[in-house]
Amino acid sequence: MYTGIKHFHSGLAYLLLAGLVAAIIYAIASRKKSFTAGSRKIALVGLICAHLQFLLGLVLYFLSPLGASNFSGDAMKEKVSRLYIIEHPLMMLIAVVLVTIGYSRIKRLGSDPKKYSSIIVFYGIGLLLMLSVIPWNVWP
Ligand code: HEM
Ligand code: HEM
Repeated sequence: MYTGIKHFHSGLAYLLLAGLVAAIIYAIASRKKSFTAGSRKIALVGLICAHLQFLLGLVLYFLSPLGASNFSGDAMKEKVSRLYIIEHPLMMLIAVVLVTIGYSRIKRLGSDPKKYSSIIVFYGIGLLLMLSVIPWNVWP
């Protein structure tokens, strides 16, 4: 169970980062054109990957020896264990919330250029936050 979810979380991370990058590049390239159902679907792929990855991360947090079970004052003093216990989960939560807001605003915003900039800005900041807390020593 633990190994399976860990691999799923590790693999889906590629898809998520690629999905966010694709949505951002597409939005930048199309920002002077009209916003179509296809434009929304490209952003939706990133959103679904982000939500699924978050859910997997949450489950992993309670299965992994690096997650909740490692929570202690001593572990907080150590860089790598602190990353898994607090920094990675918390920053990823903020990043996924930003991606969700960016997607959700599409439905409310009136003008097409604003819909594209919602994706560029919110997906962009979300992506940067994710990149900042990926455990680069073990991934990719
Ligand atoms: C911790 C679990 C999850 C939470 C808290 C969560 C939360 C949310 C929220 C707040 C929205 C609303 C966004 C909006 O205003 O449009 C949303 C939409 C959505 N989520 Fe999640 N989600 C979770 C897990 C998942 C999973 C596991 C999937 C699929 C693999 C998923 C797929 C979607 C889809 C498809 C939408 C709607 C997109 C649309 O409106 O077209 N979510 N989710
Ligand atoms: C949503 C964006 C997220 C991304 C892109 C992401 C990405 C990653 C990556 C690349 C790894 C390294 C996997 C490996 O060792 O090959 C990892 C590990 C881990 N992640 Fe996430 N993660 C996300 C969210 C979360 C969340 C929200 C939690 C917890 C609530 C979480 C908990 C963990 C844990 C506990 C590990 C260590 C697993 C282990 O080696 O035992 N992740 N994550």
